Amino acid sequence: MSAKNSISRRQFVAGASGLVLAGAAGKAAEKPVPADGPKLAIDGGEKAVQVKCSAGPRWGDVEQKQLEAMLKQRSLFYWKGPQTKLFLERFREFCPVKYAQNCSSGTAAIHIAVAAAGIGLGDEVITSPVTDIGTAIGVLYQQAVPVFADLGLGTHNLDPADVERRITPKTKAIIAVHLTGNPCDLDALRALADRHDLVLIEDCAQAWGAKYRGRPIGTVGDIGCFSLQNSKHITCGDGGVVGSSDERFGPLLQKYGDKGGNRSKWGGFDGFATNYRMSEPQAAVAAAQLTRLEEIAAKRNRLGNLLTENIADVPGVIPHEVHPKDRAVYWFYFFRLRPDALRCTRSQFCKALWAEGAAVRGGYIGVPLYGEPVFQNHGFFAGRWPVKEMGLTTMDFTKHRCPNAESMLTEGIRVPIYEYQTEEYILQVAAAIRKVAKHYAA
Ligand SMILES: Cc1ncc(COP(=O)(O)O)c(C=O)c1O
Repeated sequence: MSAKNSISRRQFVAGASGLVLAGAAGKAAEKPVPADGPKLAIDGGEKAVQVKCSAGPRWGDVEQKQLEAMLKQRSLFYWKGPQTKLFLERFREFCPVKYAQNCSSGTAAIHIAVAAAGIGLGDEVITSPVTDIGTAIGVLYQQAVPVFADLGLGTHNLDPADVERRITPKTKAIIAVHLTGNPCDLDALRALADRHDLVLIEDCAQAWGAKYRGRPIGTVGDIGCFSLQNSKHITCGDGGVVGSSDERFGPLLQKYGDKGGNRSKWGGFDGFATNYRMSEPQAAVAAAQLTRLEEIAAKRNRLGNLLTENIADVPGVIPHEVHPKDRAVYWFYFFRLRPDALRCTRSQFCKALWAEGAAVRGGYIGVPLYGEPVFQNHGFFAGRWPVKEMGLTTMDFTKHRCPNAESMLTEGIRVPIYEYQTEEYILQVAAAIRKVAKHYAA
């Protein structure tokens, strides 16, 4: 790793967000003018959030029964495994695709999709910079180049206009990340993909049960990828699934998840891939969890929308923007502050909300993916990046900029949404946001 290119995460945040942070710090130095209205809890007033919601169990009898059935089997291997079969049947019921392959993670699902799409040396794949790094890992392992496009101000999803600006003759695919379970503008991305002959991959890791204009998420793009990691709507600890109805890609999913060999028509290894298999115990839990999905998705959708309805008119706040015809499933809720309309920093706003009893957090990931040291150093493979050294890309992540993505992380506030929360709780969180925003209004 060259010292010249080396940049720490802290330095990046300071550099990339300098303006925003400097502005906020300047405002913080001003003493808040006492506002009308009820006293903030942080100043000794009454808390806006009085309701407590306790988390219930995430699994129980259904999973236990399925695991007991699994333990009666002689094999725990996925191929022809009854649990895998059941899981994939249930997956197809809610995400109707012709081909589906379960695998070890969401990262694996995306890598399988990218490999099946034929992405390789020096190809460019446009995606969101605000996502889990698992969105980009498969692209890099294929020796392709992730190109990050900016996001919509309130949707936090790919801005199709910026995606279009970043298309070059090397672009081969778009990975649309449905961040927090809010569907991307798939009509616009589909049109772009069709016009430029690109593969549209949906990253549905955070979007179990979401719908785009009534269509199940994962079925509008060419390939859909889901994660079953522990924090997701449904889980088996770790796991993933990838699906497609496209005859160009669907038949390749199994072999790219299983070392490059086609098990239904064994002819040796005509492809090359790693082992991304999911075992039967995981498939049993995942199959059982799918029976809970609709209830979880419906509840989160209701709670998130309720929060929007109740903060939509709060000055200084930009609510989470969801298309009225879509079903967002709120892996979390994300709203932004308008720094010019408030006399406080985000940190002060969050502290005030905490004191009101709303367990919010500032931001999401620390920096956009391109700001992470491994991107800033172009150090993906033992500290090096062969594609760049071979002159197949001019990508320089130290110069990459996506202003909305950057400000989203410095001005945004994350509200946890869970199926066990009550509407009353969400209404009180909304009241807390209103109270704090009013207090700090410029
Ligand atoms: C949007 C997104 N994409 C991809 C992934 C990767 O999934 P996994 O952690 O199962 O590899 C995640 C997981 O956090 C995610 O949130």
